[in-house]
Amino acid sequence: MIIVLIGYMASGKTSLGKKLAEKLNYDFIDLDDFIEEKEKSSVSEVFKTKGEIYFRKQESFYLKELLKDNSNIILSVGGGTPCYSNNMELILNADDVTSIYLKASISTLASKLIKKKAKRPLIAHIETEEAMEEFIGKHLFERIPFYSQAEIKVIVDNKTKDDIVEDIILELF
Ligand code: S3P
Repeated sequence: MIIVLIGYMASGKTSLGKKLAEKLNYDFIDLDDFIEEKEKSSVSEVFKTKGEIYFRKQESFYLKELLKDNSNIILSVGGGTPCYSNNMELILNADDVTSIYLKASISTLASKLIKKKAKRPLIAHIETEEAMEEFIGKHLFERIPFYSQAEIKVIVDNKTKDDIVEDIILELF
């Protein structure tokens, strides 16, 4: 089975994915890391030198490749992955794939992202937490229609990582 973790930047897809993989004895793959390895370049560098459209094309290509794998994998995808091309449709229709939306509030995301924006080209320019909240609010308005198609939704605000992993496992099995 492949469990795909989706959600906005900084919703915890990678850190929770690693914990969940350990607990379930699954492999863990982060789509951004996978792209960086294949492209031999960081996500920021790809955005800068080849542009976002190229990044989205590669993101969709590697997602398709990974969804064909029939081993047990926790796959954390980028915040934009479900919202481009027909990626969400592919995730929902792939065999033996379950999608989980890690749902975080705007304020949780903004306070995390203001400290972790450097490696994220879409938000690296935002200076204050207030401006970050405003940006995320508008961005989520466009993205929630995609995220909310996930089969399972788990709220991550004000919970420890261990509690979130427990919640995910309860929903899954
Ligand atoms: C993006 C999220 C990033 C990365 C890229 C674009 C987005 O992944 O794919 O910077 O469009 O939200 P994370 O969600 O892991 O930060």
